[in-house]
Amino acid sequence: MPLLAIESTCDETAAAVIDRSRRVLSSIVASQDTLHARWRGVVPEIASRAHVDRIIPVITEAVQAAGIAKQDLEAVAVAVRPGLIGSLLVGLSAAKAIAAVFRLPLIGYDHLAAHLYACHIAFGDRLQYPAVGLVASGGHTSLFRLTGPLELERLGGTIDDAIGEAFDKAASLLGLAYPGGPEIERLAATGDPKAYRFPRPLAQDRSRLDLSFSGLKTAIRYQVRPPGADERQLGQQQRADLAASFQQAAVDALVAKVELAISRTGCRMVVVGGGVAANGLLRRELETLGNRRRVTVLVPPLSLCTDNAAIGAIAWEQLERGDLATLELDVRPGTDRSRREAASLTPRVGSPPAALPRR
Ligand code: KG4
Ligand code: ZN
Repeated sequence: MPLLAIESTCDETAAAVIDRSRRVLSSIVASQDTLHARWRGVVPEIASRAHVDRIIPVITEAVQAAGIAKQDLEAVAVAVRPGLIGSLLVGLSAAKAIAAVFRLPLIGYDHLAAHLYACHIAFGDRLQYPAVGLVASGGHTSLFRLTGPLELERLGGTIDDAIGEAFDKAASLLGLAYPGGPEIERLAATGDPKAYRFPRPLAQDRSRLDLSFSGLKTAIRYQVRPPGADERQLGQQQRADLAASFQQAAVDALVAKVELAISRTGCRMVVVGGGVAANGLLRRELETLGNRRRVTVLVPPLSLCTDNAAIGAIAWEQLERGDLATLELDVRPGTDRSRREAASLTPRVGSPPAALPRR
């Protein structure tokens, strides 16, 4: 019997039904892009309220689209970290209610590990461990060493803004819509990536696997509005050149650290996840890197890159290990940068999983 996965970490309300062989029977995503577009970024309170409105219809649609009844579910899984606290709580509340009413095992999964698990869904056994994992999204930019789907050791990542956030801010400065990543990519297609020399902060620093995107954000801001001066009137070609140069700098910085992570770990496999992995330039540059270093680089199809609940298939790994939660399960909004990551979220204290009797 399949499991139901729920995802509400940021501004997508999503539910998916996935069977034991990780086949995705249905995957429904209700995007909130139009609600946040006016502010050119996610407004947390708007996001949580929209999740409340949508979560039940989205779950119902996912179950119906899978051609099953709720009674046919094996378990219910929900992303409980990291993310916006109000958004996470809506998904968790829905999952707990379903687990309690239908007496189903409850599983809390890690959103970042799930982003990387997209490669498992898309490529199956081609994904071999150990691997370098790159999550590049609106809220996260992190590098991991993976020894299994649930075993993530954080190697480094951004020390300030996420790469997706930088794309969104750059787009906003250029008067483009939200989410900014696809808009920048579209505009960049007609621009010259060498027209502006933007910084690649920390890219040359081979002593660490950290990244920084705030300086790049400032650099494009100063091109649009120089310090102490009025906003410049930019022509269409200048805007395209800015978009292309920005995109190249952001991608170069990221790919340089992926290469360093390959050297450091000796891994022959790289897996990528997160919304920015939808970016064509990043995909091409990673492919080039893979060919040059003779490393397999797996990047999932676009629909599995941006937030969705099919990546909640990772919950099967936890279910198979008996890694179940109780109704005490709570959200963990922050990423713990310093500690060793473990994607398993089973509470080590409190009542045992048996607190949720099977039907
Ligand atoms: O993974 P995701 O859907 O949500 C988070 O977990 O953050 O990622 C959303 C981010 C946004 O910042 C969006 O602008 C970016 O992914 N993004 C892209 C592209 N498509 C989405 N960035 C660059 N190029 C794209 N084609
Ligand atoms: Zn995400």
